[in-house]
Amino acid sequence: MKNLHDKVVVITGAGSGIGRSLALKMYKQGAKLALNDFNKEALDETLSMIDNPNSIYHEIFNVSIKKDFDQFAKNVVNHYKKVDVVVNNAGITIGSYSSLETTIENYEKVIGINMWGMIYGTLNFLPELRKQEESSIVNISSIWGLIGSPYQSAYSVSKFAIRGFSEALAAEEFCNNSGVVVTSVHPGGVKTNIVRNIEGQNLTENQLKKLDAHFPTTANQTADKIITAIKKKKTRITIGPDAKFMYRLSRFSQRITMKFMVNWAKKMMKTQQWNH
Ligand SMILES: NC(=O)c1ccc[n+]([C@@H]2O[C@H](COP(=O)([O-])OP(=O)(O)OC[C@H]3O[C@@H](n4cnc5c(N)ncnc54)[C@H](O)[C@@H]3O)[C@@H](O)[C@H]2O)c1
Repeated sequence: MKNLHDKVVVITGAGSGIGRSLALKMYKQGAKLALNDFNKEALDETLSMIDNPNSIYHEIFNVSIKKDFDQFAKNVVNHYKKVDVVVNNAGITIGSYSSLETTIENYEKVIGINMWGMIYGTLNFLPELRKQEESSIVNISSIWGLIGSPYQSAYSVSKFAIRGFSEALAAEEFCNNSGVVVTSVHPGGVKTNIVRNIEGQNLTENQLKKLDAHFPTTANQTADKIITAIKKKKTRITIGPDAKFMYRLSRFSQRITMKFMVNWAKKMMKTQQWNH
Protein backbone atom coordinates (compact mmCIF):
# COMPACT_ATOMS: atom_id res chain seq x y z
CA MET A 1 0.00 0.00 0.00
CA LYS A 2 1.76 3.12 -1.21
CA ASN A 3 -0.07 5.59 0.99
CA LEU A 4 -3.07 6.02 3.29
CA HIS A 5 -4.78 8.80 1.37
CA ASP A 6 -8.55 8.14 1.20
CA LYS A 7 -8.06 4.72 2.78
CA VAL A 8 -10.73 3.68 5.29
CA VAL A 9 -8.93 2.66 8.47
CA VAL A 10 -10.61 0.96 11.45
CA ILE A 11 -8.78 1.23 14.79
CA THR A 12 -9.99 -0.29 18.07
CA GLY A 13 -8.84 1.08 21.42
CA ALA A 14 -8.17 4.50 19.84
CA GLY A 15 -8.73 6.40 23.10
CA SER A 16 -5.16 6.14 24.31
CA GLY A 17 -1.59 5.05 23.65
CA ILE A 18 -0.73 3.26 20.40
CA GLY A 19 -4.31 3.40 19.05
CA ARG A 20 -4.53 7.15 19.56
CA SER A 21 -1.10 7.79 17.96
CA LEU A 22 -2.07 5.64 14.98
CA ALA A 23 -5.38 7.50 14.57
CA LEU A 24 -3.76 10.95 14.67
CA LYS A 25 -0.92 10.02 12.31
CA MET A 26 -3.13 8.18 9.84
CA TYR A 27 -5.65 11.04 9.80
CA LYS A 28 -2.81 13.44 8.94
CA GLN A 29 -1.86 11.15 6.06
CA GLY A 30 -5.37 11.43 4.60
CA ALA A 31 -7.05 8.29 6.00
CA LYS A 32 -10.80 8.16 6.71
CA LEU A 33 -11.10 6.82 10.24
CA ALA A 34 -13.54 4.50 11.99
CA LEU A 35 -12.60 4.50 15.65
CA ASN A 36 -13.62 2.54 18.72
CA ASP A 37 -12.90 2.54 22.43
CA PHE A 38 -14.95 1.38 25.40
CA ASN A 39 -13.93 4.49 27.34
CA LYS A 40 -16.02 7.39 26.01
CA GLU A 41 -13.99 10.09 27.73
CA ALA A 42 -10.75 8.72 26.28
CA LEU A 43 -12.12 8.46 22.74
CA ASP A 44 -13.62 11.97 22.97
CA GLU A 45 -10.16 13.24 23.91
CA THR A 46 -8.65 11.59 20.80
CA LEU A 47 -11.40 13.11 18.64
CA SER A 48 -10.75 16.54 20.16
CA MET A 49 -7.17 16.33 18.82
CA ILE A 50 -8.44 16.06 15.24
CA ASP A 51 -9.22 19.27 13.35
CA ASN A 52 -12.51 17.93 11.93
CA PRO A 53 -13.81 15.41 14.51
CA ASN A 54 -17.26 15.31 12.86
CA SER A 55 -15.71 13.55 9.86
CA ILE A 56 -14.71 10.58 12.00
CA TYR A 57 -17.04 7.57 12.37
CA HIS A 58 -16.77 6.30 15.95
CA GLU A 59 -18.54 3.98 18.37
CA ILE A 60 -18.18 3.26 22.06
CA PHE A 61 -18.34 -0.48 22.74
CA ASN A 62 -16.41 -3.34 24.30
CA VAL A 63 -14.57 -5.33 21.60
CA SER A 64 -15.08 -8.58 23.53
CA ILE A 65 -18.87 -8.39 22.98
CA LYS A 66 -19.49 -10.11 19.64
CA LYS A 67 -22.89 -8.64 18.80
CA ASP A 68 -21.59 -5.09 19.35
CA PHE A 69 -18.55 -5.71 17.16
CA ASP A 70 -20.77 -7.29 14.46
CA GLN A 71 -23.01 -4.19 14.48
CA PHE A 72 -20.02 -1.81 14.39
CA ALA A 73 -18.60 -3.60 11.33
CA LYS A 74 -21.95 -3.33 9.51
CA ASN A 75 -22.22 0.36 10.42
CA VAL A 76 -18.67 1.12 9.23
CA VAL A 77 -19.27 -0.55 5.86
CA ASN A 78 -22.63 1.26 5.50
CA HIS A 79 -20.98 4.54 6.35
CA TYR A 80 -17.84 4.41 4.18
CA LYS A 81 -18.88 1.72 1.62
CA LYS A 82 -15.45 0.08 1.87
CA VAL A 83 -12.65 -0.81 4.32
CA ASP A 84 -8.91 -0.83 3.55
CA VAL A 85 -7.12 -1.27 6.89
CA VAL A 86 -8.20 -2.81 10.21
CA VAL A 87 -6.02 -2.40 13.29
CA ASN A 88 -7.08 -4.68 16.15
CA ASN A 89 -5.33 -2.73 18.87
CA ALA A 90 -7.64 -2.65 21.95
CA GLY A 91 -6.01 -4.57 24.76
CA ILE A 92 -5.52 -4.83 28.50
CA THR A 93 -3.26 -6.49 31.01
CA ILE A 94 -4.06 -7.39 34.59
CA GLY A 95 -0.67 -6.88 36.22
CA SER A 96 1.77 -9.39 37.68
CA TYR A 97 0.33 -12.65 39.00
CA SER A 98 1.69 -16.18 38.86
CA SER A 99 -0.13 -18.58 36.55
CA LEU A 100 -1.76 -20.24 39.57
CA GLU A 101 -2.76 -17.00 41.27
CA THR A 102 -4.40 -15.61 38.14
CA THR A 103 -8.12 -16.19 38.54
CA ILE A 104 -10.15 -17.91 35.80
CA GLU A 105 -12.20 -14.70 35.60
CA ASN A 106 -9.03 -12.75 34.78
CA TYR A 107 -7.90 -15.31 32.18
CA GLU A 108 -11.34 -15.01 30.58
CA LYS A 109 -11.32 -11.23 30.72
CA VAL A 110 -7.88 -10.80 29.13
CA ILE A 111 -8.48 -13.47 26.50
CA GLY A 112 -11.96 -12.02 25.85
CA ILE A 113 -10.64 -8.57 25.00
CA ASN A 114 -7.20 -9.31 23.55
CA MET A 115 -7.94 -12.51 21.61
CA TRP A 116 -11.69 -12.56 20.91
CA GLY A 117 -11.74 -8.82 20.19
CA MET A 118 -9.03 -9.40 17.57
CA ILE A 119 -10.86 -12.42 16.07
CA TYR A 120 -14.20 -10.55 15.87
CA GLY A 121 -12.45 -7.57 14.27
CA THR A 122 -10.66 -9.72 11.72
CA LEU A 123 -13.53 -11.99 10.71
CA ASN A 124 -16.08 -9.19 10.50
CA PHE A 125 -14.00 -7.10 8.12
CA LEU A 126 -12.18 -9.81 6.12
CA PRO A 127 -14.86 -10.18 3.38
CA GLU A 128 -14.80 -6.39 2.83
CA LEU A 129 -11.00 -6.25 2.84
CA ARG A 130 -10.85 -9.00 0.19
CA LYS A 131 -12.81 -6.76 -2.18
CA GLN A 132 -9.87 -4.34 -2.33
CA GLU A 133 -6.88 -4.81 -4.58
CA GLU A 134 -4.67 -4.30 -1.55
CA SER A 135 -5.68 -4.13 2.09
CA SER A 136 -4.29 -4.75 5.52
CA ILE A 137 -5.12 -6.36 8.88
CA VAL A 138 -2.83 -5.33 11.72
CA ASN A 139 -3.09 -7.32 14.94
CA ILE A 140 -1.26 -5.89 17.93
CA SER A 141 0.40 -8.73 19.79
CA SER A 142 3.48 -8.12 21.96
CA ILE A 143 6.97 -9.42 22.64
CA TRP A 144 4.96 -11.67 25.00
CA GLY A 145 3.43 -13.20 21.87
CA LEU A 146 6.93 -14.42 20.92
CA ILE A 147 8.23 -15.34 24.40
CA GLY A 148 6.09 -16.35 27.39
CA SER A 149 6.50 -13.87 30.22
CA PRO A 150 6.61 -15.04 33.86
CA TYR A 151 3.79 -13.51 35.94
CA GLN A 152 1.93 -12.53 32.76
CA SER A 153 0.48 -15.86 31.67
CA ALA A 154 -3.03 -14.60 30.83
CA TYR A 155 -1.53 -11.79 28.75
CA SER A 156 0.99 -14.18 27.12
CA VAL A 157 -1.78 -16.65 26.21
CA SER A 158 -3.76 -13.87 24.55
CA LYS A 159 -0.78 -12.44 22.67
CA PHE A 160 0.48 -15.87 21.44
CA ALA A 161 -3.07 -16.47 20.20
CA ILE A 162 -2.97 -13.21 18.24
CA ARG A 163 0.31 -14.23 16.62
CA GLY A 164 -0.89 -17.77 15.84
CA PHE A 165 -4.14 -16.56 14.31
CA SER A 166 -2.40 -13.80 12.32
CA GLU A 167 0.28 -16.11 10.91
CA ALA A 168 -2.29 -18.73 9.91
CA LEU A 169 -4.48 -16.15 8.19
CA ALA A 170 -1.50 -14.39 6.56
CA ALA A 171 -0.49 -17.68 4.91
CA GLU A 172 -4.08 -18.40 3.78
CA GLU A 173 -4.44 -14.97 2.20
CA PHE A 174 -1.05 -15.35 0.52
CA CYS A 175 -1.99 -18.77 -0.90
CA ASN A 176 -5.36 -17.43 -2.10
CA ASN A 177 -3.61 -14.54 -3.85
CA SER A 178 -5.93 -12.14 -2.07
CA GLY A 179 -4.68 -8.59 -1.60
CA VAL A 180 -5.00 -8.86 2.20
CA VAL A 181 -1.73 -8.62 4.13
CA VAL A 182 -1.93 -9.71 7.78
CA THR A 183 0.66 -8.26 10.15
CA SER A 184 1.36 -9.35 13.71
CA VAL A 185 3.00 -6.58 15.70
CA HIS A 186 5.31 -7.37 18.61
CA PRO A 187 6.31 -4.29 20.62
CA GLY A 188 8.40 -4.40 23.78
CA GLY A 189 7.61 -1.85 26.48
CA VAL A 190 5.78 1.20 25.14
CA LYS A 191 5.10 4.28 27.30
CA THR A 192 1.27 4.30 27.27
CA ASN A 193 -1.56 4.07 29.81
CA ILE A 194 -1.64 0.25 29.76
CA VAL A 195 -0.45 -0.07 33.37
CA ARG A 196 -2.50 2.96 34.54
CA ASN A 197 -5.55 1.24 33.02
CA ILE A 198 -5.16 -1.97 35.07
CA GLU A 199 -8.37 -2.38 37.05
CA GLY A 200 -7.88 -2.24 40.82
CA GLN A 201 -4.18 -1.37 40.56
CA ASN A 202 -3.36 1.41 42.99
CA LEU A 203 0.13 2.41 41.93
CA THR A 204 1.37 5.84 42.95
CA GLU A 205 2.46 8.39 40.33
CA ASN A 206 6.03 7.79 41.51
CA GLN A 207 5.76 4.02 40.92
CA LEU A 208 4.20 4.64 37.53
CA LYS A 209 7.05 6.98 36.56
CA LYS A 210 9.64 4.38 37.61
CA LEU A 211 7.77 1.81 35.59
CA ASP A 212 7.67 4.07 32.53
CA ALA A 213 11.47 4.15 32.68
CA HIS A 214 11.49 0.41 31.86
CA PHE A 215 9.49 1.05 28.68
CA PRO A 216 11.96 2.37 26.09
CA THR A 217 9.64 3.17 23.17
CA THR A 218 6.97 5.86 22.74
CA ALA A 219 3.50 5.37 21.28
CA ASN A 220 4.39 7.73 18.40
CA GLN A 221 7.50 5.70 17.51
CA THR A 222 5.42 2.52 17.64
CA ALA A 223 2.73 4.02 15.39
CA ASP A 224 5.37 5.12 12.85
CA LYS A 225 6.76 1.57 12.66
CA ILE A 226 3.26 0.11 12.23
CA ILE A 227 2.41 2.55 9.41
CA THR A 228 5.68 1.68 7.65
CA ALA A 229 4.91 -2.04 8.06
CA ILE A 230 1.48 -1.53 6.42
CA LYS A 231 3.06 0.32 3.49
CA LYS A 232 5.82 -2.29 3.12
CA LYS A 233 3.39 -5.23 3.51
CA LYS A 234 5.32 -6.84 6.38
CA THR A 235 3.74 -9.84 8.06
CA ARG A 236 5.63 -9.60 11.37
CA ILE A 237 7.40 -6.74 13.12
CA THR A 238 9.14 -6.45 16.46
CA ILE A 239 9.31 -2.92 17.87
CA GLY A 240 11.78 -1.48 20.37
CA PRO A 241 15.31 -2.42 21.45
CA ASP A 242 14.01 -4.57 24.34
CA ALA A 243 11.76 -6.66 22.06
CA LYS A 244 14.50 -7.11 19.48
CA PHE A 245 17.05 -8.12 22.14
CA MET A 246 14.76 -10.60 23.93
CA TYR A 247 13.58 -12.20 20.70
CA ARG A 248 17.17 -12.65 19.51
CA LEU A 249 18.17 -14.07 22.90
CA SER A 250 15.27 -16.54 22.83
CA ARG A 251 16.42 -17.92 19.48
CA PHE A 252 19.95 -18.30 20.83
CA SER A 253 19.15 -20.05 24.13
CA GLN A 254 15.83 -20.79 25.81
CA ARG A 255 17.60 -21.47 29.14
CA ILE A 256 19.44 -18.13 29.23
CA THR A 257 16.26 -16.38 28.15
CA MET A 258 14.35 -17.92 31.07
CA LYS A 259 17.00 -16.78 33.59
CA PHE A 260 17.01 -13.31 32.05
CA MET A 261 13.22 -13.15 32.12
CA VAL A 262 12.93 -14.18 35.76
CA ASN A 263 15.48 -11.53 36.83
CA TRP A 264 13.69 -8.96 34.69
CA ALA A 265 10.28 -9.86 36.14
CA LYS A 266 11.63 -9.63 39.71
CA LYS A 267 13.06 -6.18 38.97
CA MET A 268 9.75 -5.00 37.52
CA MET A 269 7.78 -6.37 40.46
CA LYS A 270 10.14 -4.64 42.90
CA THR A 271 9.69 -1.34 41.07
CA GLN A 272 5.95 -1.70 41.26
CA GLN A 273 6.01 -3.28 44.71
CA TRP A 274 3.71 -6.00 43.47
CA ASN A 275 4.35 -8.63 46.10
CA HIS A 276 3.15 -11.90 44.68
N1 LIG B 1 2.27 -0.48 26.19
C1 LIG B 1 3.02 -1.54 25.99
O1 LIG B 1 4.09 -1.70 26.59
C2 LIG B 1 2.57 -2.59 25.01
C3 LIG B 1 3.51 -3.54 24.58
C4 LIG B 1 3.13 -4.51 23.69
C5 LIG B 1 1.83 -4.55 23.22
N2 LIG B 1 0.93 -3.63 23.65
C6 LIG B 1 -0.43 -3.73 23.13
O2 LIG B 1 -0.77 -2.53 22.46
C7 LIG B 1 -2.19 -2.37 22.44
C8 LIG B 1 -2.54 -0.96 22.84
O3 LIG B 1 -2.20 -0.77 24.20
P1 LIG B 1 -1.58 0.58 24.78
O4 LIG B 1 -0.26 0.24 25.32
O5 LIG B 1 -1.72 1.67 23.82
O6 LIG B 1 -2.52 0.77 26.06
P2 LIG B 1 -3.52 1.93 26.50
O7 LIG B 1 -4.15 1.43 27.75
O8 LIG B 1 -2.82 3.24 26.54
O9 LIG B 1 -4.60 1.95 25.32
C9 LIG B 1 -5.49 0.89 25.13
C10 LIG B 1 -6.85 1.46 24.75
O10 LIG B 1 -7.72 0.33 24.51
C11 LIG B 1 -8.96 0.60 25.15
N3 LIG B 1 -9.60 -0.67 25.48
C12 LIG B 1 -9.22 -1.57 26.41
N4 LIG B 1 -10.10 -2.59 26.45
C13 LIG B 1 -11.04 -2.33 25.52
C14 LIG B 1 -12.21 -3.02 25.10
N5 LIG B 1 -12.59 -4.15 25.68
N6 LIG B 1 -12.95 -2.49 24.09
C15 LIG B 1 -12.59 -1.31 23.52
N7 LIG B 1 -11.49 -0.59 23.91
C16 LIG B 1 -10.74 -1.11 24.89
C17 LIG B 1 -8.61 1.41 26.40
O11 LIG B 1 -9.73 2.14 26.89
C18 LIG B 1 -7.48 2.29 25.88
O12 LIG B 1 -7.98 3.51 25.36
C19 LIG B 1 -2.74 -3.45 23.38
O13 LIG B 1 -3.21 -4.54 22.62
C20 LIG B 1 -1.51 -3.86 24.18
O14 LIG B 1 -1.61 -5.17 24.67
C21 LIG B 1 1.27 -2.65 24.52
